Amino acid sequence: MARIFVTHPLPGTAFLRLSEEHQVTVFSADRSPTKAEIIDHLQTAEVLVSLITDEITSEVIDAAPHLRIIANYAVGYNNIHVDWATRHKIPVLHTPHVLTDASADLAFALMLAVARRIVESDQWLRSGAWAGWKPQQMLGTHVTGKTLGIVGMGRIGIALARRARGFEMPILYTNPERLAPGLERELGARHTDLDELLAQSDFVSLHCPLTPHTRHLINAQRLQQMKQGAILINTARGPIIDEVALVAALQTGPLQGAGLDVFEQEPDVHPDLLASARVVVTPHTGSATTETRAEMTALLVDGIHAILQGRIPHNVVNPEVLRTQQEPDQDD
Ligand code: GLV
Repeated sequence: MARIFVTHPLPGTAFLRLSEEHQVTVFSADRSPTKAEIIDHLQTAEVLVSLITDEITSEVIDAAPHLRIIANYAVGYNNIHVDWATRHKIPVLHTPHVLTDASADLAFALMLAVARRIVESDQWLRSGAWAGWKPQQMLGTHVTGKTLGIVGMGRIGIALARRARGFEMPILYTNPERLAPGLERELGARHTDLDELLAQSDFVSLHCPLTPHTRHLINAQRLQQMKQGAILINTARGPIIDEVALVAALQTGPLQGAGLDVFEQEPDVHPDLLASARVVVTPHTGSATTETRAEMTALLVDGIHAILQGRIPHNVVNPEVLRTQQEPDQDD
């Protein structure tokens, strides 16, 4: 039985399983713990289950004498100082695969919502302003057949490309590594550099992790490289876009619109983005389906059990810290 500190209750039955089998302390459903409160709980806890809103810094890790596992309820782990955890031989779990489809679905939904002015149309109709059908009413932009640029062709980027295939969209992509030629052919995707991708794409969707290299990757200069009338989608991490520069590119060109699920200073959103009818915003809901959130919980709970039993689950970010003593899970 391990002492587990969870910063927020998690959905799904696997969470009950965790509480039945371990000594679990849940911080609160109403607010996130402060750094001091996390450190306080980590005086005794052996396992930390964190959200992306919890900053697990080197200071927090240094102040946790018994910590054996960090389990982050997200696929992204930019909120955790993973190198520091590795130095302390602490494995970091995350939730890949199970949220791929939900996240790609949301990115595609935002593409359609911005291009076809779904939210604006809904609000206008509800306001009572609609006096009947007119040829020029609520004209949007065609989606089928347009070029989609995908920045970061990992699991979610590939899943988005599969959806775009159904819309006959040629795909350009950037990624540190090229996909296998067979997969490129299947997706109708061409590897290129960011300059060409921005210049050629009608839609640009971001799917790279947030790292020092990708912070403000989409800055004022890069926004100016985009095609006139292009639509930018971000379901990855807010700071990949310079939000002030984005506001300018929406006001003076070349951007026609943006679909944003993530923001630079969450939960705050730049007021000009909130005021713009050409921007569709969602509150960081990429993985927010009942099914996916339950699967994310199960993945972390299974991962915690595997490590506690001396196995190496597939969803460890830094498996090298376990490799010396343990063998990989056979069923992964
Ligand atoms: C959500 O943003 C995640 O990384 O899972």
